Amino acid sequence: MTALRVAVLGARGRLGSFACDLLRRTEGFELVAAWDRDSDWRSLARDCGAVVALEATRAGQGAQHARVLLESGLRVVVATSGVGVADTEALDRRARELGLGGLVVPNFSLGSWLLQRFAAEAALWFEGAEIVESHHERKADAPSGTADETARRMAEERAQGGLESFAPATPQFPARGEVRHGIPVHSIRLPGIYAHQDVLFGARGEVLRVSHDMHGPEAFGPGMLAALRYAAKAHGIARGLDPALARTPRARGS
Ligand SMILES: NC(=O)c1ccc[n+]([C@@H]2O[C@H](COP(=O)([O-])OP(=O)(O)OC[C@H]3O[C@@H](n4cnc5c(N)ncnc54)[C@H](OP(=O)(O)O)[C@@H]3O)[C@@H](O)[C@H]2O)c1
Repeated sequence: MTALRVAVLGARGRLGSFACDLLRRTEGFELVAAWDRDSDWRSLARDCGAVVALEATRAGQGAQHARVLLESGLRVVVATSGVGVADTEALDRRARELGLGGLVVPNFSLGSWLLQRFAAEAALWFEGAEIVESHHERKADAPSGTADETARRMAEERAQGGLESFAPATPQFPARGEVRHGIPVHSIRLPGIYAHQDVLFGARGEVLRVSHDMHGPEAFGPGMLAALRYAAKAHGIARGLDPALARTPRARGS
């Protein structure tokens, strides 16, 4: 089997260095370029020999970098936070014009992916919901892109089910969280925490809590590899892990 040739942008960062290490030790993948801020990656991309580039830089830069990578002939997996639905649609149009594809994945963890699916389902059955997300103190953004995506998927599911969006029951005091897609999100940043997300659903007489804990970047591995494999053949740019995992229910073991 020919190895999938991958370039990593943001290779000295926490996620990028994890990705480089994973690609070096995983059969079926070949790391052909590891770029960081000091690299002239815009000039190198076209002839680097990669099929797919993993974009893992800083929140707010992902969409612009992905466009440059596509226009250099590379497929893309965008990991960086802050690439919204409208950005994804614009990338999708450009990728289709160029005959390329890829994926925007706000969170590679399979646990997080499942939490969002369960939370979307539960959003149809409760009167109110709030999200509490906790991360290490070095995380640059708040609320996290993952919490925003969880709220977006819950709101989308309610809209598709013909339900009104969740409306926070109290006036918007800062301590009640930042409302995303109709759902208050509370962010905690402390040393000692890696990544944690709780979605609490309330109805008369009961509370459902859907909870996910991550303890290290290893949790990103299976989803990252599945996303890269998917991107290598994709037409257009999709969002989230659903298309990459649709046919690999046992991705954890692969
Ligand atoms: N999708 C997921 O599952 C997932 C998981 C974890 C993190 N993330 C997201 O991925 C991004 C990276 O996270 P991280 O924890 O690895 O951050 P990080 O440790 O700060 O790493 C970011 C790296 O990108 C480099 N960089 C910044 N701007 C650049 C540019 N214009 N060109 C080339 N390189 C550039 C930085 O270099 P300098 O240090 O020189 O600025 C740094 O080495 C964040 O947006 C984060 O929220 C996503």
